[in-house]
Amino acid sequence: MGPSDGLLRFGRQHLYLHSSERMPELRSGSMDVIVTSPPYNRGKNYDPRYSDRLPEKEYRQLLLRVFRECHRVLAPDGVFFLNIGDGARDQGKSEKVCAWAQEAGFHRLQTLVWLKTILGKGHFTPSGQGRRFSNVFEYIFLLSKTKHPRLDVRAVGIPYADKSNIGRYSQVDLRDAGNVWFVPYRETTGATVKKGHEAPYPVELPWRAIRCVPQARRVLDPFAGTGSSLAAAESLGIEGVGYEPYPQLRVIERRLATPFHPPPVVLLPELERSVRFLADRGLLVRPPGSAKLPAREREAWDTLGRVLEALRGGLPPRVS
Ligand SMILES: C[S@@+](CC[C@H](N)C(=O)[O-])C[C@H]1O[C@@H](n2cnc3c(N)ncnc32)[C@H](O)[C@@H]1O
Repeated sequence: MGPSDGLLRFGRQHLYLHSSERMPELRSGSMDVIVTSPPYNRGKNYDPRYSDRLPEKEYRQLLLRVFRECHRVLAPDGVFFLNIGDGARDQGKSEKVCAWAQEAGFHRLQTLVWLKTILGKGHFTPSGQGRRFSNVFEYIFLLSKTKHPRLDVRAVGIPYADKSNIGRYSQVDLRDAGNVWFVPYRETTGATVKKGHEAPYPVELPWRAIRCVPQARRVLDPFAGTGSSLAAAESLGIEGVGYEPYPQLRVIERRLATPFHPPPVVLLPELERSVRFLADRGLLVRPPGSAKLPAREREAWDTLGRVLEALRGGLPPRVS
């Protein structure tokens, strides 16, 4: 590893250290999946040479140039996952960015939601600053060159909560997980990966996207940042190409060298059913004299009490 002639190589991954407005290294139609997140034009500090507060006209022109190149290099049956979110006080930008991708020639197939937190699981930046609700989801626009690209939505599927559905909708205990992807950050803003880069997504996000494309042999991320998409491609054993003119080399090297292990399937419905089942049979009873329990155990019982209260429909007390 180590850049030479504006190119960083790692395993099956190639990162070109220049703007993706032109991608002369890539043949037309040579990429099976594009997964990316462009600069949000919201004043992030990627590099002193780059202004992340461009006038909208310039921002649009930059993205249009990149999206046109993306359209050129994507295979006819390829798929483009475009991630972007609105800020708490910056509503509607994502739709504009998606419209520019359509202007570059892409079909808009579907809107997915990337959910960063549920009920306290997962980190998010308190962007609302107490005056707006913080932004805890982003969009992933599913785009393509043709109206019927090849997708295997059950490649990131989950088991049925109601097993009687097996045989009704599919022969196996696997259904697609829907268009809301719960992918929490594993580390918080101040933690290792985010130090050194302002806006990485979790590796699981591109990993899920790539998995859904059965013919995926080559992946492109035109705004590679820390190399999350390339790390996902590497963990799936496929080739990836990225572009990043302002590389934080140490962060990228660490990201690519860290093996990614996908988390187990989401088992929340099963967990919820099991907790209810045990509680209803009186099997989840706090031991007597629990004030004397070690702090960690007490905390666990307190938490379980709150979970049971929530499952029974109780709301947390109002904070005035
Ligand atoms: C939202 S970040 C992408 C983060 C990435 N998804 C990750 O997980 O690390 C957008 C990136 O686009 C880069 N960028 C800005 N202008 C660019 C250009 N013309 N070509 C390619 N990348 C560019 C920025 O430096 C930044 O790293």
